[in-house]
Amino acid sequence: MADMNELVEAAKRARTRAYAPYSRYQVGAAVRGDNGKVYLGANIENASYGLALCAERNAVAAAILDGCKQITGVAVITSTSPPAAPCGMCRQTLAEFAREMDVVMVNEKGERVDTTLSALLPRAFRPEDLP
Ligand code: THU
Repeated sequence: MADMNELVEAAKRARTRAYAPYSRYQVGAAVRGDNGKVYLGANIENASYGLALCAERNAVAAAILDGCKQITGVAVITSTSPPAAPCGMCRQTLAEFAREMDVVMVNEKGERVDTTLSALLPRAFRPEDLP
């Protein structure tokens, strides 16, 4: 629980760095790597709209680039009420790096939803599924 609170605070900090001039929908994310460290991500949009990068996947990329092999938890913050969940592409990306992880979604109002990746993405397609 304390671990997840730390991730929520990190996601809030990350959100201040979102680059979202087109949607004006700022997303902050934080993941915890298997080394215990916290990695930040924010959404980064582009004038070519389809190139928008999600906050969660940017946080995953930061963790992997730092040498993490697994991710144990993720927090995401938006302005949505009730708190928005990671998109499908981000769920699949997260599933690559752990069979299960804690997921916490929060918003600016302080509303919070605690769940797990397997609840958001049951029967995920996993690396082990490849022959
Ligand atoms: N976005 C995220 O960062 N994460 C999600 O899980 C869903 C959507 C971003 C992408 C885009 O910059 C903005 O939110 C609106 O879709």
